[in-house]
Amino acid sequence: MDITVVEHPLARHYLTILRDKDTAPESFRETTRRLCYLLLTEATARTPLAEGTVTTPLADTPGYRLAHQMVAVPVLRAGLGLLDAVLDLLPDVKVGYAGVARDEETALPQEYYYKIPDLSDSQVLILEPMLATGGSLSWAIEKVKGSGATDITAICVVAAPEGVKRINNDHPDVRIVAAGLDEGLNDHFYIVPGLGDMGDRLFGTY
Ligand code: URA
Repeated sequence: MDITVVEHPLARHYLTILRDKDTAPESFRETTRRLCYLLLTEATARTPLAEGTVTTPLADTPGYRLAHQMVAVPVLRAGLGLLDAVLDLLPDVKVGYAGVARDEETALPQEYYYKIPDLSDSQVLILEPMLATGGSLSWAIEKVKGSGATDITAICVVAAPEGVKRINNDHPDVRIVAAGLDEGLNDHFYIVPGLGDMGDRLFGTY
């Protein structure tokens, strides 16, 4: 399975706060943001740099800047929870939005919104916190590939083996970075042990 699970002690600490059913939305949002800094650090660990020169107050010295445009694509609505950290660390990032609802009966993705910037010469980060069946993420990857993306990383908070398998099968070129790889899905396609419904916990809709 091509998945990198970030096992940094801080990531494990933050994930535990997110899993705790008693964590209230305000703290849940803050903790998601903090965890996302760590996930983003891993997701960009292989990002190419362009070498140049920077002039300090004292001398010229080699300097490095990101070689490609970064594009973040939160999958609505839970992906919005990861966006603040991305905007913080990558202030020049362009942001596209992919709106997909999960049919609760079939778990199949239903598109309701898709607005994306130019993806040529870009590294695309798809923000999909809960990789459950993989249906929504596979759909989002298909969409951004259709818009020209070739370098794609998915940032997840928790992944289920079923979802990882699906993405590896549908899109073997896509890298997955997550904070946890859990046991599996229940009958309602929720990740177990997971953290519940990410969108509900971020936005207090429960
Ligand atoms: N989406 C969620 O928010 N949680 C899950 O466990 C699965 C999908």
